[in-house]
Amino acid sequence: MKSAPHLELAKQYLYGNYRPAPVVFVRGEGCSLYDEGGKRYLDLCAGVAVSTLGHAHPELTKAIAEQAARVIHVSNYFYNAPNIELAEALVRHTGLARAFFCNSGAEANEAMLKLARRYHYARGDKMRQRMIAFHNAFHGRTMGALTLTGTPKYREGFGQCGPTTHVAYGDLDQVRAAMGADVAGIVVEPVQGEGGVLPAPEGFLVGLRKLADEHGALLLVDEVQTGMGRLGKMFGFQGQIEPDAIALAKGLAGGVPIGAMVTNARVADALPPGTHGSTFGGNPLACSAALAVLRTIENEKLCDAVRARGQLLTSLLKDAAKALPNACEGSRGVGLLQGLILREGLLARDWLGKILDRGVLLTAAGERVLRFTPPLIVSDGELREGVRTVVEVLKEIS
Ligand SMILES: Cc1ncc(COP(=O)(O)O)c(C=O)c1O
Repeated sequence: MKSAPHLELAKQYLYGNYRPAPVVFVRGEGCSLYDEGGKRYLDLCAGVAVSTLGHAHPELTKAIAEQAARVIHVSNYFYNAPNIELAEALVRHTGLARAFFCNSGAEANEAMLKLARRYHYARGDKMRQRMIAFHNAFHGRTMGALTLTGTPKYREGFGQCGPTTHVAYGDLDQVRAAMGADVAGIVVEPVQGEGGVLPAPEGFLVGLRKLADEHGALLLVDEVQTGMGRLGKMFGFQGQIEPDAIALAKGLAGGVPIGAMVTNARVADALPPGTHGSTFGGNPLACSAALAVLRTIENEKLCDAVRARGQLLTSLLKDAAKALPNACEGSRGVGLLQGLILREGLLARDWLGKILDRGVLLTAAGERVLRFTPPLIVSDGELREGVRTVVEVLKEIS
């Protein structure tokens, strides 16, 4: 096997916090990835909802190469043009007011957490520090983001987290009961991704907006997984509410590390100079990549494409679940964030390797969901190929 030397080195030198499959990828094109031996894989996970335009998209590649040849980094002591242009583009697309840039989803959520506390602090309300978040929520791995993450296994062993009350996702009565004069903000995903591909019930975000307003708290929407067209519109909150801030990362720059917090005008002054920052945040390379991704989503009408491909994926997964009554309980999701739910007692993680052996890349969400988050450029044929492979593998269970 051509990858064997690299895999040996990986065993020796890489920190052991991941459990990667024994495949070393060296090249990609569209929705295909190729390993060191030249074997082709169909990428229906897109690096966990990151490779928005697939691999080696000419627009993104060109933007990165041209920007790298001009200037990669200048720091936030100075302005850079792609940073300013990306802030303008995100404000235009979200209808919000201002953008702050960082490098990951966890950092974008950290920024929202600090924003919420500092907003109230600046208004003389220093006791408002508690957050409301949801069971099964995932907001990242830094200590602040862990505070919000609603799956105990991610917090285990890391000691005390900041004050957060976790309640059932979708249950407005539980949120109402948890509200109080000490609540700084509510943090919510429009669809819980890592938690198991759980879409918010109808009216949930609107109800949260009302409750936040009634209690003087902020409403913060984590669009790290749902943003950038994945649900068939640019952002998941759109057409429902105006959030006080959103967190973006993952697909924003199509694979170049970036994170962003976009806020409305009300909270735009809550983090004055000196209160927050990031060395790499907003660097010209990442911002040029994000501008190319946004431009391509618009020019290639990828939100329309996601809605069409999403409908096909919904029906393919429904048929798959029906065809596999012993293995599958059903399917759920929105746009190109969907999952096939396995029956109680089966672990999604256990099947990823077998699916990979047949040349298809997926990820697990929650314990029992095989998650599909393909690049937004995926074709009908590629979705059919992927679901057909999954069905063949899961037939083993029957
Ligand atoms: C909704 C959501 N928020 C935050 C994060 C954390 O992002 P990152 O891994 O870039 O820190 C993730 C990652 O899966 C996510 O799905």
